[in-house]
Amino acid sequence: MSEPPIHVVPVPAHPGVARWQAMAPPGAAVGTAGLWPVPGVRPHVPELSLYVRPEWRRRGIGSRLLTAIRDRATGPLLVADVPAGSPAEAFCQWHGFRHARCRRHDLLTYGDVHQAWLGELVDTEHPGYRLLHWTGDLPGTPHVAELIRSPSGPGTTVLTAADADGDLAAYAVAVVGMLTRRRARQYGPAVLPGHRGRRLGRWVNAALIQRLRAEHPHIDEVEAVAGADDPGLLAARADLGFRIRRKSHLYELTLP
Ligand SMILES: CC(C)(COP(=O)(O)OP(=O)(O)OC[C@H]1O[C@@H](n2cnc3c(N)ncnc32)[C@H](O)[C@@H]1OP(=O)(O)O)[C@@H](O)C(=O)NCCC(=O)NCCS
Repeated sequence: MSEPPIHVVPVPAHPGVARWQAMAPPGAAVGTAGLWPVPGVRPHVPELSLYVRPEWRRRGIGSRLLTAIRDRATGPLLVADVPAGSPAEAFCQWHGFRHARCRRHDLLTYGDVHQAWLGELVDTEHPGYRLLHWTGDLPGTPHVAELIRSPSGPGTTVLTAADADGDLAAYAVAVVGMLTRRRARQYGPAVLPGHRGRRLGRWVNAALIQRLRAEHPHIDEVEAVAGADDPGLLAARADLGFRIRRKSHLYELTLP
């Protein structure tokens, strides 16, 4: 029997996110791909999300979705975070991605967080620093220092930062809609050189957790990724109640 024709089509997504579906007749989506801007210090390196329904795998559909992504991507690189030893890892290697580093994913559940304690952490003064917040949809190449000075509005991204006399000192960001409906993805906290050793990471992260729930009450879990060899960051997260969930590998693809 011949294979049904598969059409790869762009679909509407959150502003700043590029998304495609692979459609099989009579109109069933059998795979999806997305390119998500990642807020932070490497704002031009988006993250790939790719999924093909199990019964449709090994027919070239993932490769066709990746081609659509590559044709659209404008930056020098894209990254993919994949479970170690998974089909996705074999897929990335097949397509010329380079293994960049090992990562771990930690999970925080709101039900496990004592809200009064969280409030105290957020309210603790850090002399010389102030907390700032931004919410909205990420533009294509978000840089934290610019985002925090731009007007807030409704959107998928919540950013909390600490600044000292107008200089960005620390930040943490959460994005909703990238994982499941109830789970947000967190980046950071990151503390910039010259501001370390003052517990700013824990401060901005506590403020982010509090703010995220206020902006998106349906979120009940936060998943955070980090390099597996970043003890300071992991300790700050553990302090807040994050627990290790799984390990993954980060792959990078250089674009022409
Ligand atoms: C990764 C994924 C998208 C691949 O989709 P796919 O449609 O099966 O991929 P393709 O058929 O285009 O595979 C292209 C090549 O990748 C390699 N590959 C893909 N799956 C593989 C597997 N299970 N084992 C070994 N190699 C594999 C093969 O070299 C394959 O070519 P071949 O079939 O001619 O040997 C799919 O397995 C998936 O949805 N996994 C779960 C989601 C996930 O982990 N996503 C990654 C996050 S970015």
